[in-house]
Amino acid sequence: HSVALVGAPFSRGQKRRGVDHGPAAIRNAGLLERLSGLGCQVYDFGDLIFTQVPNDEVYNKLVKYPRSVGLASQVLADAVSGAVAAGHSCVTVGGDHSLALGSISGHTRQYPHLSVIWVDAHADINTPLTTQSGNLHGQPVSFLLRELQDKMPQLPGFSWLKPCLSSSDIVYIGLRDVDPAEHYILKNYDIQYFSMRDIDRLGIQKVMERTLDHLTGRRQSPIHLSFDIDAFDPSLAPATGTPVLGGLTYREGMYIAEEIHNTGLLSAVDLVEVNPLLVATQEQANATASLAVDVIATCFGQTREGAHVVYDDLP
Ligand code: ARG
Ligand code: MN
Ligand code: MN
Ligand code: MN
Repeated sequence: HSVALVGAPFSRGQKRRGVDHGPAAIRNAGLLERLSGLGCQVYDFGDLIFTQVPNDEVYNKLVKYPRSVGLASQVLADAVSGAVAAGHSCVTVGGDHSLALGSISGHTRQYPHLSVIWVDAHADINTPLTTQSGNLHGQPVSFLLRELQDKMPQLPGFSWLKPCLSSSDIVYIGLRDVDPAEHYILKNYDIQYFSMRDIDRLGIQKVMERTLDHLTGRRQSPIHLSFDIDAFDPSLAPATGTPVLGGLTYREGMYIAEEIHNTGLLSAVDLVEVNPLLVATQEQANATASLAVDVIATCFGQTREGAHVVYDDLP
């Protein structure tokens, strides 16, 4: 199994400083070693370099850094598309979640029909006209869905982007902080989601069963996992910009990643929103980065029950 690793130190999709240090924190927590230890061939594409866009004025008096976000996502789209074309599974470590519009568009250039599993406390489906924060990390999904395009204004920096997903191609897991307009969109466009309440009711096993039935029931498309570390409870993942109480347990997070691995369909992963600067202690930053590594390693075959190759002669 070959895995490409792309670092995406980008932070302009939100306002807090430090999320651009996410890739370094996740690398320092031993990502490459863990993937190699699982028998993956790792191709490290390094960290992308995002050039500053001068005079990147707010759009519509509110939406911040549209040209920077558009350009960074375009650069990432090319990297992910190239990695997947070369036959690798692609891991993008961020950076803020606006990057997912780049990674998913790049991925769909190679596989026009994708299944997306979006694990997050947030739906990130505001449009530039419904956003209350102006942060583009709360909006990436709206740029990707074909059904929403008549609600989307033309944003500077985004002319390269073509919507590439249908509302039935995405399932959310872990939601617990959804804005009113986002909730309207989820309901009106019939988008499948499992909130934390649904996990409480059904248990994570049924949630994963239903998620995978919904996405792969009709056809077996490659899976793109977009994992926001704030899906976890803040007690486990304190180093993130928009923590919300009542998140995934460690065991639920690992179960999600194990089930996705077991499909054999995983083709790309985003691991985003690790912000090592937003903590009281270095231990909290390390714990969050190390949790991110556990998610990625589990996606590529690490198991809790253990594993073995056949022993010719057990000592
Ligand atoms: N819904 C809020 C917004 O639109 C929060 C989004 C948080 N997104 C994230 N990727 N952490 O700004
Ligand atoms: Mn910095
Ligand atoms: Mn989030
Ligand atoms: Mn997110």
